[in-house]
Amino acid sequence: MKIEVANRLKHVEEYYFSKKLREVRELISEGKPIINLGIGSPDMSPPKNVLEAICEASYQENAHGYQSYQGLPELRKAMASFYLKNFNVDVNFNDEVLPLMGSKEGILHISMAFLNEGDAVLIPNPGYPTYASVTNLVQASPVFYDLREENNWEPDFEAIEKLDLSKVKLMWINYPHMPTGAAGSDDLFKKLISFAKKHQILLVNDNPYSFVLNQKPKSILQFEGAKEVAIELNSLSKTFNIAGWRVGMVLGNAEVLKSILQVKSNMDSGMYFGIQKGAIAALNLPDSWNIEMNSVYEKRRQLVWNICDKLGCLYDRKSTGMFVWAKVPKGKNENEISDYLLYKHDVFITPGTVFGSNGEGYIRFSLCVKEEKIEEVLKRIS
Ligand SMILES: Cc1ncc(COP(=O)(O)O)c(C=O)c1O
Repeated sequence: MKIEVANRLKHVEEYYFSKKLREVRELISEGKPIINLGIGSPDMSPPKNVLEAICEASYQENAHGYQSYQGLPELRKAMASFYLKNFNVDVNFNDEVLPLMGSKEGILHISMAFLNEGDAVLIPNPGYPTYASVTNLVQASPVFYDLREENNWEPDFEAIEKLDLSKVKLMWINYPHMPTGAAGSDDLFKKLISFAKKHQILLVNDNPYSFVLNQKPKSILQFEGAKEVAIELNSLSKTFNIAGWRVGMVLGNAEVLKSILQVKSNMDSGMYFGIQKGAIAALNLPDSWNIEMNSVYEKRRQLVWNICDKLGCLYDRKSTGMFVWAKVPKGKNENEISDYLLYKHDVFITPGTVFGSNGEGYIRFSLCVKEEKIEEVLKRIS
C-alpha cells in the first residue's frame, strides 16, 4: 500500500540530529568510542529535592489522572514568581503564563495559532532549525534575516526593512542566541519592539539559555511596550537539567496566550502531575543552583576553548550559553572539520550550516560533556 504523505511534509526533512544521531549510534555499536559534543542535552542531574518532589507526588492519590490544560495554579504561580525574581517582570499567573510540555512544542502551538498558509515568518539565520521547519509544517513561508559576526549576531534593521514584509505576521528571535552565544543588547530589544509595533508583527523571544554562563539574564518582557507586541518562551530543560521531562512556558499578552491555549488544549491532555510538582521545586531553587552549574560549565568551556586553539579555530570569550561557537581556520570548511573529528577522532560536533547558511565556516561544541571526556578529545587531536 502506498499512501502519499501530506503536502506539509514535502518541505520538511527529518530533524538533523534525529538522522545524525542514528549514524553516531551505529558507530558506537561498531565499537567506536564516540564522544558526543554535538547536542545540548544537559548531562548533570537535577538536585535531589527536585527528584524527591516528583517521586513523592507520584504516590499521591490524584497523581495519575488527566491534568488541567493550563497546568496547576501552583505551577503557574511558581513560573510567575520566577519571572518576577529573575527578570523583574510581573505577569498575572492566571492568564499571562501558560505551562508547555517543552518550548519546542510551543513553537508549533504558536505557529498553529497565528499562521495561515501563505503568511510569512521572519527567522534568524543562523538559528534554531525548528523555527523554519515548523513554519513549513504549517505551510507558511520562512523569510530569513541575516545575523552576522561583525554585527554581534544581531539583526541589521536596514536590511530587514528592505525585505518584503507585506505578508510577515510573526518574527522569531532568540537571545541569548543559539548557536552563536550572543547575549543581545538592551538596545536591540528596544529596536525589536518598535520594529514589531511599526509592522504589526508578533515578536516571539525564545529564551531557554538565559541562565547558562550569562552574566545578565534578560527577558524581552522587561522592556517598555513589550507586552503589546511580544511574548516569550522559556524552558526548564537547560536551566534545571530536566530536558527529558519536557517543561517549558510561554508568557506575555493574555489574549495571545488564550489563542495558544485554544490550540494546545486540543493537542494534549495536560502535563503529568509529578512533573508539575518537580518543576515547582526546580523553579523555587535558590540562586546557588545556577552558580554551581555555571562553575562546572565554565571549566568545560575553558577546555573546549583549548580544543579550538589546537584546531586553529577562533571564538568569542564573551559569548553566553551551553555551546562554544567557533570560526574554522581560513581554507577549511565546517563539514571538513566535523567529518575529520568524527571519522578520524571519534568526536561528534555540529557543523554550523545545520543552523542556516550563515553558519558556513563555523562549528558548534556542546558543553554537556564531562571534563574528563573533553580532556580525552584534547588528547586525541593533539
Ligand atoms: C534555541 C532553542 N529553543 C528551544 C529549544 C527547545 O527546548 P525545550 O527542551 O524546552 O523544548 C532548544 C533546544 O535545544 C533551543 O536550542
